[in-house]
Amino acid sequence: MEVEAHVTDAVGTSGLFIAFEGGEGAGKSTHLRRLTERLDRLGVAHLLVREPGGTPAGERIRQIVLDPTTPIFAETELLLYLASRAEFVNRVVRPALERGELVLADRFEMSTYAYQGLARGLGLDRVKDLNAFATGGLKPDGTVLLALDADVGRGRQRGQADRLEQEHAEFHRAVARAYAALAESEPGVITIDSDGPLEEVQERLWTALSANWPDRFPPGA
Ligand code: TMP
Repeated sequence: MEVEAHVTDAVGTSGLFIAFEGGEGAGKSTHLRRLTERLDRLGVAHLLVREPGGTPAGERIRQIVLDPTTPIFAETELLLYLASRAEFVNRVVRPALERGELVLADRFEMSTYAYQGLARGLGLDRVKDLNAFATGGLKPDGTVLLALDADVGRGRQRGQADRLEQEHAEFHRAVARAYAALAESEPGVITIDSDGPLEEVQERLWTALSANWPDRFPPGA
């Protein structure tokens, strides 16, 4: 297997990179699907990708990290998410931004800050340093946080729970608290109240995106 060396630098990008964040059941994937359908109808080119995953290696890492039958330590968990991220940034995000594209990411670094740095207690500063190594310093232009009470979010969940979803209720409450704190401390976070009917939340989301990036998300469209 060939290993590619990659020189990372955060300059020279002309596209737009927006990350979408939230706890379990906050509606991220549903809203992102609707958002992409809307962008398709409007003819706005974009790329929707998820983390962990989004690349061949990343999808394999996703299987390991989310498998409830594969026990791993918190440190291993962190490094697996960051391994997926290094691949994702270098292989997908950076090239797309250099082509001037719109990239919508279903989770990015704020997930690692909230889940591993704060809820798992690995430490925010250390997680930020390791994340910066994985990303080569590439930051999203904006982060949209879909905020929802952790217990309400978990009540919405359906299907087989993965390793993270199987964590106890207090862990998920800690994730929600972490997101709320990060929304205050991190730059460029847009918080959307994800409670309420799907259509209403989707309109809140579109309105916020339009206000920030009207070229890509035309107001009233
Ligand atoms: P998903 O089901 O929303 O795709 O997310 C996968 C799970 O991985 C979710 O429980 C959040 C978790 N996660 C982390 O703990 N750290 C991370 O850095 C990322 C990207 C996801």
